[in-house]
Amino acid sequence: MCTPDNPMPRAGLTRPEGLEENLDVTGMVNPEGGLIDRRIFSDEKVYNQEMRRIFARSWLFIAHEDQFKKPGDFFQTYMGEDPVIASMNKKREIRVLLNNCRHRGARVCRADMGSTKNFTCTYHGWSYDLDGNLVNVPAQESYSSDFNLADWGLVTAPRVESYKGLIFANWDKDAEPLEDALGEMKWYIDAFMDRDPEGTTVVGGVTKWVLEGNWKLAAEQFATDWYHVNMSHASALMVMSPTGKGPKKEIAQRTGRQYTDERGNGAGFPVHPKNRFDAQPVHEYYDYDFLRERLSPEQVMGPLTNGHATVFPNFSYLPVNGSIRVWHPKGPNKMEVWSWTVLDKSMPEEVRRAQRLYNLRTFGPSGIFEQDDGENWSECQANAHAFMVGNTALNYQMGMGTEQQREDYPGTTSELYSDAAGRGLYRRWRELMSTPAWHENTDQ
Ligand code: FES
Ligand SMILES: [Fe+2]
Repeated sequence: MCTPDNPMPRAGLTRPEGLEENLDVTGMVNPEGGLIDRRIFSDEKVYNQEMRRIFARSWLFIAHEDQFKKPGDFFQTYMGEDPVIASMNKKREIRVLLNNCRHRGARVCRADMGSTKNFTCTYHGWSYDLDGNLVNVPAQESYSSDFNLADWGLVTAPRVESYKGLIFANWDKDAEPLEDALGEMKWYIDAFMDRDPEGTTVVGGVTKWVLEGNWKLAAEQFATDWYHVNMSHASALMVMSPTGKGPKKEIAQRTGRQYTDERGNGAGFPVHPKNRFDAQPVHEYYDYDFLRERLSPEQVMGPLTNGHATVFPNFSYLPVNGSIRVWHPKGPNKMEVWSWTVLDKSMPEEVRRAQRLYNLRTFGPSGIFEQDDGENWSECQANAHAFMVGNTALNYQMGMGTEQQREDYPGTTSELYSDAAGRGLYRRWRELMSTPAWHENTDQ
């Protein structure tokens, strides 16, 4: 039976040894020396182990709370490669259900989002309620008398928790609370998600596109990499600069901080008293004195605007653009990007419009910055499988030794131009890849 204590109902079945063999990958990443083995981006076995040992036990972003207004509202997404449905039940709680019929395994919901009373599988008609309970089986009399609907509900994520409107789920019932997993990263998230006492909303639906690249390339860049901005985005910066000649020196060589922690989260941002929102109507809308009061001067001078961040493993955001996104893994060589535009609820319509369009122009699928990033990741991926390439170590040594604890920025931070959060992400990756997850060594 599937219960919150047993989200992996396999009673009555056994598996041969070796079917899900784990590799010792500890030597493939060396955060202490700033070295990464290229094969972690291309190897199928490593990838499959990531699904078991990282995605099956980490807090994964599901949706924004504002996507669910009334019971029956649902949204279809993925946890790792597993399709899931997030639905609001009659008690207005969010349930996260494995979108996989217990009969033959078809998806029971094929719509991206919507509102419903039940999820009815279109193969043979088994029907499930908003909590995933099996409520109707056509021709049930053809099953024996001990067939019990209660035994065949949808598998349900045992943990669903939110922080500042962001819903996460975890397959591990004993996972540490979401807020503990976010740790001091919350201070950086607040600078983005807690500017408005009314909270945030998401608009314009979810934009989705496919990139040729391993999911870690994107997650890592958003955690750690301001370094690429001036080179990769030179033409975009030139187009956007008022003179058309590109950024001034003070913008091109910016000072700032980069946050890293032992859970693999990372955030980087320039620090400057003139940090501001790029879209003019958005800049004019904000009362920076109010924000300094509500948050702190440090948050306003830093992560409020020009930052980048990743919550381990695959949720990232960009405050100045109002972009939140998930890098859904689709095999070692491919990812699907799902992107939302986040707005403060109090924003008037014309400010909302300005921020939404700014996000689309910069970081939509054809955005001038997004194009550069996707091109880089597919370039890095293109030859990662090749023999000599795969046996050549990559350098993650920027900013080694600059990590420090400071009064003004919580947690451990380094200089802005640094691989510190990248090293932190791979340190966490190594830890999880090397320790058995909740579902191992059980008969469930
Ligand atoms: S696969 Fe769903 S009812 Fe048969
Ligand atoms: Fe970029």
